[in-house]
Amino acid sequence: MRVAVLGCTGRMGIAVVKAVVDSRGAELSGALTQPGHAMLSVDVGVVAGVANTGILVTSDLGVALDGADVVIDFTLPAAMQSNLAACRKYKVALVMGTTGLSEGQHAMLAEAAAEIPIVYGRNMSVGVNVTTELARLAARYLGADWDTEIVEAHHRHKVDAPSGTALQLGEAIAKERGADLSAIAVYDRANKSAARNRGEIGFSSIRAGSIVGEHGVLFASDTEIVELRHQATDRSVFAQGALRAASWLEGRPVGLYGMPDVLGFNT
Ligand SMILES: NC(=O)c1ccc[n+]([C@@H]2O[C@H](COP(=O)([O-])OP(=O)(O)OC[C@H]3O[C@@H](n4cnc5c(N)ncnc54)[C@H](OP(=O)(O)O)[C@@H]3O)[C@@H](O)[C@H]2O)c1
Repeated sequence: MRVAVLGCTGRMGIAVVKAVVDSRGAELSGALTQPGHAMLSVDVGVVAGVANTGILVTSDLGVALDGADVVIDFTLPAAMQSNLAACRKYKVALVMGTTGLSEGQHAMLAEAAAEIPIVYGRNMSVGVNVTTELARLAARYLGADWDTEIVEAHHRHKVDAPSGTALQLGEAIAKERGADLSAIAVYDRANKSAARNRGEIGFSSIRAGSIVGEHGVLFASDTEIVELRHQATDRSVFAQGALRAASWLEGRPVGLYGMPDVLGFNT
């Protein structure tokens, strides 16, 4: 499988380049960054601190996508439209890891998925997606009487709260209970002088140091507590998940898929 990495000079792009170089079944076919970047025309292996790959960093989407079987995109929402248009033009499968997309951009992904196969995942970590599935099962079998609280911790630079992954966990639990998360989520108890309502899902966020990402889900009845916990210690987990998605996607029919499809939860 030949992989083009979009955003190859960023934190995630570098992790994906390393994952591809270390893999058995994948090889790099292209590497894209922004116009004017200091690393243009440099071997992307040098950028990632690994061996030379023979693939030079470019800002030309046509060059980056040439010969690719699958594109892995970890850029920024502002770059998403042109990247998506190029994948459609060259009919290349796409793993979209870039987060923070607008509603309109999600609609564009769905529209493009009529022409090319796409995997979109807010969190590409295999462990997080298995934790989400476990949370869904716990919600199903424990029932809505169990109080549910989601606690997440991230590094001091993270600006949004709660994390997209905490929301993913909450959505899975709410959906299993036949509820809309926005109707039962509680994000702030400080301004609320009231006891807990039945069926609420509470969220708490910690921002400290260099924590890569921790998520816990607590289900409590009057007499029992069930806890699920996931901890990412390195961002390579997201790159490994993206690569797994890419190899699952290669040769698939057109359509919009998610990590649950990649991991076989929907079969
Ligand atoms: N789905 C997941 O599991 C997951 C996990 C972690 C992060 N993310 C998301 O992945 C994205 C990237 O995260 P990051 O931490 O790697 O950010 P980052 O370090 O800022 O990397 C973004 C990269 O994209 C490049 N870029 C920006 N605009 C571009 C354009 N128009 N064309 C080509 N390249 C462009 C940037 O170039 P410069 O080097 O010039 O800035 C940079 O190399 C974010 O949306 C983040 O939220 C997703």
